[in-house]
Amino acid sequence: MLLEISELKKTYTQGNQTIEALKGVSLTIDRGEFVAIMGPSGSGKSTLLHLIGGLDRATSGKVLINQQNLTLLSDPELSRFRRLKLGFIFQFFNLLPTLTALENTALPLLLDDQKLSQVEPRAKALLEQLGLKGRLDHTPDQLSGGEMQRVAIARALVSDPLLILADEPTGNLDSKTGLAILELLSKMVRDQGHTVIMVTHDPKAAEHGTRLIKIRDGAVEEDRRRA
Ligand SMILES: Nc1ncnc2c1ncn2[C@@H]1O[C@H](COP(=O)(O)OP(=O)(O)O)[C@@H](O)[C@H]1O
Ligand SMILES: [Mg+2]
Repeated sequence: MLLEISELKKTYTQGNQTIEALKGVSLTIDRGEFVAIMGPSGSGKSTLLHLIGGLDRATSGKVLINQQNLTLLSDPELSRFRRLKLGFIFQFFNLLPTLTALENTALPLLLDDQKLSQVEPRAKALLEQLGLKGRLDHTPDQLSGGEMQRVAIARALVSDPLLILADEPTGNLDSKTGLAILELLSKMVRDQGHTVIMVTHDPKAAEHGTRLIKIRDGAVEEDRRRA
């Protein structure tokens, strides 16, 4: 088992109003799964992904990744865990505008004090595998949406993470480009043994997953594997 979540709760407080975004979610995910998470807007999908990714802390409950209890890590330990053990792909790519594709890809390792000269060959190889050979020195404004998302995928893979988390990775792409990104994610799971958790509101995108988890009102409504 790669990921174990138990009784995960998240409550947001705004003024005198509290919102129970997650109401005690428990589930396990194995290595090599491609999990699609669907649910209506406001149902808690992003909250769940952020807690799994250590981007936010739960109100109660546990997140274990590869036996490591994220709840017990200090903030600096959690950042390091995120940089080296997890890969993130976002709807709006989240690339740094002043860095080249190569630098953006290498960034998680550069932030870990690794030298660019050391990291460069791996970052380059990933970008080339993703069809960006001629784009290494381009900044994000010189890239198309699909190219930017492929740079973000290279960045997510650069540390050879345990788990890749994607929040609406095709939400800002036209359908053809989105399909290419989904096929890439499928291939990473099928051929390279990666594990992907993807939030999407698009049923067509979710069909690429090997498992579908539906969230409603902060709870798991349905959880099924594809035949
Ligand atoms: N930082 C926050 N502060 C207050 N409420 C929040 C915050 N983030 C999310 N929420 C609320 O928690 C609920 C779940 O949000 P979210 O996880 O973003 O849903 P989804 O991704 O499924 O659209 C929503 O009601 C949302 O308004
Ligand atoms: Mg969301």
